[in-house]
Amino acid sequence: MALSVPITEDVHWVGVNDHQTHLFEGVWPLPRGVSYNSYVIADEKVAVVDGVKDANAADHLDRIREVIGDRPIAYLIVNHMEPDHSGTVRTLREAFPQMQVVGNRKTAGFLEQFYGLDAGVKTVADGEELDLGRHKLRFFLTPMVHWPETMVTFDETDGILFSADAFGGFAALDDGIFDDQVDLAHYEDEILRYFSNIVGKYTKPVLNAIDKLKSLEIKTIAPTHGPVWRSNPGQIIQKYARWSRQETEPGVVLAFGSMYGNTAKMAEAVGRALADAGVSTIRAYDVSRTHPSFIIRDAWRYGGLIIGAPTYNSGLFPPMDTLLRDLEILRMEGRHLGIFGSYGWSGGGVKRMREFADTGGKWELVEPVIEANCAPGDHDLEQCAELGRRMAETVNA
Ligand code: FEO
Repeated sequence: MALSVPITEDVHWVGVNDHQTHLFEGVWPLPRGVSYNSYVIADEKVAVVDGVKDANAADHLDRIREVIGDRPIAYLIVNHMEPDHSGTVRTLREAFPQMQVVGNRKTAGFLEQFYGLDAGVKTVADGEELDLGRHKLRFFLTPMVHWPETMVTFDETDGILFSADAFGGFAALDDGIFDDQVDLAHYEDEILRYFSNIVGKYTKPVLNAIDKLKSLEIKTIAPTHGPVWRSNPGQIIQKYARWSRQETEPGVVLAFGSMYGNTAKMAEAVGRALADAGVSTIRAYDVSRTHPSFIIRDAWRYGGLIIGAPTYNSGLFPPMDTLLRDLEILRMEGRHLGIFGSYGWSGGGVKRMREFADTGGKWELVEPVIEANCAPGDHDLEQCAELGRRMAETVNA
């Protein structure tokens, strides 16, 4: 049975699902795997749009062959040079020596630096067209979505936008590949986790790209990861735009760490007060047990974030410090922040969290900030409840 999937008469998905990689980019857990989407346009001249990771090269080539048989590939279009997509450049060049690799000026530099490839490279400019026969392709540069060389390719004939990382998400496509075939509610968490952690630093370039492409008559969005959007491409554009504008939903993330249960008691007091005050969506996470990417996903989604952790070696409890460093990179805006913590003989934990509030993005601090000495007393727990109530007032408003 063929594992390539037709999208239109000439355009086929020839991507692969990766269930072997444990950490995407060596950093991000993949509990549901990830797809590397690649596409063949089987026209008079054959073009492949984006490749896959090197480890999946054999699978990729088999799927291309399913579609084109013994015909040669004329062009490999490299919208994005990150090796989860460009990893098969050399394998494809060996199989198809006449194949031209198509990218922009910055792509050409990366091709040489990553793969020593400087011959057979066709450089295209913003807005330039490539004619395959029936299909006319147009290229648009979309720098920093998510690397400087990133571009997208629009198939004017079939209305397909090959969007590179934009509009993509984690999770392998083990069922259908199209938005109307998969359970989108099941995919959305992994799409947002991908967006917030991988693309989230580049929200302005995403909005610039959406604006630049708005006049195209897009029928299908074909990203390099996650579902292909053929029934309602506007849906994923709107989600990416809303997330990029940092619009939030009502709800609170309560992220806490605790060495011996004392700071956890403070978290419990905060959580109870949030619930009693009517916050219907509360996501509580123990930072020692949860990879930061899952907490960041929900911090991106909801309007309130409360962080609590003990002091450790005169600084902040390390798993919380890791989370804050990741959040600092993202420079999140327009959210409310609460802080609580504890110390034994010297402070440091709350001080670091206050510094994060001041410089780690644009956070609106919700008082009180609570710092308990050793175990929290009644007054500390009452103050934690007060923090929960005030945060609830803020996010419910
Ligand atoms: Fe999926 Fe930025 O590479």
